[in-house]
Amino acid sequence: MNLITIDGPSASGKGTVSHLVAQHLGWDVLDSGALYRICAYAVLEYGLNADDEQAVAAVIPDLVIRFDVDRVYVNDQEVSEQLRLEHIGKLASKVAAYPAVRQALLDLQRSFLTNKGLVGDGRDMGTVIFPQAPLKIFLIADVNERAKRRYKQLVEKGIDADFEAILLDLQKRDEQDMNRAVAPLKPADDAIVIDSSYMGIQAVVDRILGHWEQVR
Ligand code: C5P
Repeated sequence: MNLITIDGPSASGKGTVSHLVAQHLGWDVLDSGALYRICAYAVLEYGLNADDEQAVAAVIPDLVIRFDVDRVYVNDQEVSEQLRLEHIGKLASKVAAYPAVRQALLDLQRSFLTNKGLVGDGRDMGTVIFPQAPLKIFLIADVNERAKRRYKQLVEKGIDADFEAILLDLQKRDEQDMNRAVAPLKPADDAIVIDSSYMGIQAVVDRILGHWEQVR
């Protein structure tokens, strides 16, 4: 089965690594975080009450979601840039703690797996969505290193950034993702943990491809 899961905390480099691994193997990528971000976007777009779990979950079947390389469309409207906004990430983390929301996204996530092959990028890819994956990676990095990377990304994009605020936000996001009752962020029992704090992206990609060679 052509399937690799890559889970880990925010800003651990999962997104970039997942895309490079998938590109090398000629597979698809499931950016599951984008789905939770889309829920957050829908809460704001439809003026829903973010505290109302059922209302948030009920909107999911109405959303026509399409990924096109790194572009994301909801009901034919491109939302790629909006989804990356900080307040959307925060709200995504809140609605991602709702069991009804996670349930509503279950089949959709699994439908991304085809014979072509898939890299599943998220928090619970190896534990909940694809427990059958032959290779599960849990990518971690020191929170200070992650904050530095996020800060650099923003500055490079010409966006004003506050290092301390980024660090605090990452710590809060980690805390929320690791301590929720459903599908908390944690490595699957059979996951390989890679600490990318002091590794370049390519080294991480090569390590994962090396593991894949051994299990395929
Ligand atoms: O990875 P990304 O930062 O885009 O994810 C946004 C939020 O969605 C995370 O903070 C996390 O709470 C949630 N998420 C999740 N399960 C996933 C992927 C993301 O709960 N598989």
